Amino acid sequence: MTVTRLPDDPPLRYTAHIFVCANRRPEGHPKGCCAEKGSEELRHYMKQRAREMGLRGVRVNSAGCLARCECGPSVVIYPEGVWYTVRTREDADAILERHVRDGGRVPELMMPAEPR
Ligand code: FES
Repeated sequence: MTVTRLPDDPPLRYTAHIFVCANRRPEGHPKGCCAEKGSEELRHYMKQRAREMGLRGVRVNSAGCLARCECGPSVVIYPEGVWYTVRTREDADAILERHVRDGGRVPELMMPAEPR
């Protein structure tokens, strides 16, 4: 798939639009869920840290299931479309600092690409 932006498209609203899966399934569900792995607290932390760091044009949203449950807690950042597993506050800091603030990547936290 090719991502195309056309000349008449409106400007991007956010430089980094971060979606954190907050899906919660019943206990014992075979797929598990990101919420039971702490994603709700991590989203709250990322939102607070982004504000404290003075990052502009950044939004951290809760999302429903992002369909990468086995790799969760799942986070995806647009417009790049880079997927991460964020298990701890230290992981969240690394993503906010190295990806969002510095424009790099955090390879050790990136999810494996899905087979096509
Ligand atoms: S429950 Fe989070 S990706 Fe499915």
